[in-house]
Amino acid sequence: MRTQVAIIGAGPAGLFLSLLLQRLGIESVILELHTRAYIEERVRAGLLEHNTVQLMHELGVGDRLKRQGLEHGGIELRFNGRGHRIDFRDLAAGKCVTIYAQHEVIKDLVAARLAAKRPLLFETTEGALHALDSAHPYVTYQHNGTAQRLECDFIAGCDGFHGVSRSAIPAGLLTVYQRDYPFGWLGILAQSPPSSHELIYAHHDRGFALLSMRSPEITRLYLQCAPDEDLSLWPDDRIWSELHKRFATHDGWQLSEGPIIQKAVTGMRSFVVEPMQFGRLFLAGDAAHIVPPTGAKGLNLAVADVRLLAEALGAFYSRGSSDLLAQYSATCLRRVWKVQRFSWWMTQLLHRFPDDNPFDHRRQLADLDYVTSSRAASQSLAENYVGLPLP
Ligand code: FAD
Ligand code: PHB
Repeated sequence: MRTQVAIIGAGPAGLFLSLLLQRLGIESVILELHTRAYIEERVRAGLLEHNTVQLMHELGVGDRLKRQGLEHGGIELRFNGRGHRIDFRDLAAGKCVTIYAQHEVIKDLVAARLAAKRPLLFETTEGALHALDSAHPYVTYQHNGTAQRLECDFIAGCDGFHGVSRSAIPAGLLTVYQRDYPFGWLGILAQSPPSSHELIYAHHDRGFALLSMRSPEITRLYLQCAPDEDLSLWPDDRIWSELHKRFATHDGWQLSEGPIIQKAVTGMRSFVVEPMQFGRLFLAGDAAHIVPPTGAKGLNLAVADVRLLAEALGAFYSRGSSDLLAQYSATCLRRVWKVQRFSWWMTQLLHRFPDDNPFDHRRQLADLDYVTSSRAASQSLAENYVGLPLP
């Protein structure tokens, strides 16, 4: 088989890229390791930046998002038992964010790709990338029990943090920048109407907690835990009891409970590789960088990468120009590092660190006080949260 762009991975990066290329008349084949059901059901992100929402509409995949997405014009930062609203519409030029689950985005993108009858192969195993520093790279893999070879002009490595693309780059050519955090998030989905219309990021002596949602009937909640927390130690009543404590306010605000329908622990890290390219291989999304989820940026950053990649491939095929491809990594990394900075800042602002001393605690509270009382500081948070402008 031959195509112009081989896309490894059908996550947000790979699927958005395929639709962007389709719009430019560029052929691609997506190779996905897992089944369609697996990728359409995996519970992950939930918050879309203004630009990501706009792109879904532009690509004609925004119908369900328009009906089911929940637009949010602000968030609450809660500390010392009091809530403080950051008003995005006022502070970020009328922009807002939208709650719409990542697996719903995946369903919409997969449906559009299949409706256009473009190749998206599930359960492709043993993927390996070859001849990356030549003009004729290719991918080998197993599909339906037979060995296959896909020849192409370019390979987009969109296979997430644990994929094969990043490791296909010869050792020594990549620089890794990494920071692991000494905590994780225990996340639940509960069948209960969200107790707030907007997200609540709570700073508490017992650790961070976040209230989010998926629909008017389903609440998504997270609480800071150990990175390797044992879920069996967290029966439902212990989770609720801990959440009540961390969200408690002086004005008697109540968190409503409901049956817990999903529970999982996620570790947290900041990670970047430089450069995001080797020869004809271009990395995008979690394959190249990971942010801690506190800023809700991972999916949105993956989308920002593939916008640039599609534009660069478009310039190559329409005008024969390789300039944008040559600049791809550097252009992406400018945004990546700003988003890393913001995600790290939100994380260190809101979590308890095991080696915290009373100074750190007071400094966090001063930072929270500043960000909720200074227009300049809250505007900076708002501008980053709704999504920095595209280059
Ligand atoms: P992935 O989504 O990881 O997709 C990679 C795809 O490649 C997968 O389908 C995988 O099966 C496939 N694959 C892997 N290996 C291979 C292989 N060898 N061959 C073929 N295919 C392969 N981000 C936000 O923006 N907002 C949020 O609110 C948010 N909240 C989060 C909450 C949690 C609990 C977690 C875990 C993450 C959250 N994120 C959030 C991050 C976000 O989910 C990721 O950044 C996003 O999924 C990255 O997309 P991607 O396409 O780069 O990678
Ligand atoms: C989510 O709804 O899953 C979510 C929202 C905001 C975050 C992280 C996760 O910062």
